Amino acid sequence: MQVELKSPCKVNLILNILGKRPDGFHELETVMHPVKIFDVLTFERISSGIDLTCDNAALPTDSRNLVHRAATAFVEEAKITDGVKIHLAKRIPMEAGLGGGSGNAATALLGFNQIFGSPLTPQVLQRLAAKLGSDVPFFLQSSPAIAIGRGEQVRSLPTFPALDGYYFVLIHPGFGVSTPWAYKNLARFPSALNGERGRAERLVQSLNLSIDAAGSDFYNSLEAPVLEKFPLLAIFQEFLLENGAAMALMSGSGSTTFALINGKEKAERLQEKVREKFGSSVWVGSVEV
Ligand code: C5P
Repeated sequence: MQVELKSPCKVNLILNILGKRPDGFHELETVMHPVKIFDVLTFERISSGIDLTCDNAALPTDSRNLVHRAATAFVEEAKITDGVKIHLAKRIPMEAGLGGGSGNAATALLGFNQIFGSPLTPQVLQRLAAKLGSDVPFFLQSSPAIAIGRGEQVRSLPTFPALDGYYFVLIHPGFGVSTPWAYKNLARFPSALNGERGRAERLVQSLNLSIDAAGSDFYNSLEAPVLEKFPLLAIFQEFLLENGAAMALMSGSGSTTFALINGKEKAERLQEKVREKFGSSVWVGSVEV
């Protein structure tokens, strides 16, 4: 039996960092929203081993790949003696702040559970996901969510009425940003490092009303170090806002900038303008929220 699953990505509508923890991670509160741009994973049982292939040669297929690590964690936990063959078709930009790799890991856990007859409970999957990475548990579910702790404690939310009819326009500059680098350099920006708790909940309340009500609660603490190093990303935001976007923000640790704009036509026009202005070295996409 072969199982095929789509692996989505996300943007952070707010990423509010509250401080550095003794374990080296950062305490945060975030609102994550799924984005309907997908990688595709296929799963098959084989007699032994973990056989991972990927259509993008830039991505390692050994234990450096989160999907490989998810496979190891799953077969150990479920005491499976058979093996698994996985193919990953990569479409989501990497080191992009879109959680592509985290989504792949969560989707892999769900795929293994399907092909092996659901040996693991949702609670165990949640524990394995959190060990694989802070953003992985979010992708075990498919709704917008608020997450706390280091990002691994996830509470699903209903869809936001304010975003009805809106489109995400995403710009990837053609280079990635390393997440550990972004967090490390946040230390130079004490006010961004020590955010005020409660803003994520406030954003959720606003998004039950309107985008305008959200105002400055669309916020990302990691913009402080990342926009300083890559001013092009600030220029993207300015351009998006000048051309009709209701908001514009960096996602995660970057390098993707995203905007919200009302209606398909406006989104496509904005996408076209970005292409004209910034040329073919940037990747731009638009997708319904
Ligand atoms: O959890 P994950 O492996 O995705 O984290 C990657 C890196 O991002 C960590 O090694 C750490 O440097 C940083 N990070 C952090 N605080 C978080 C999440 C990630 O410092 N809450």
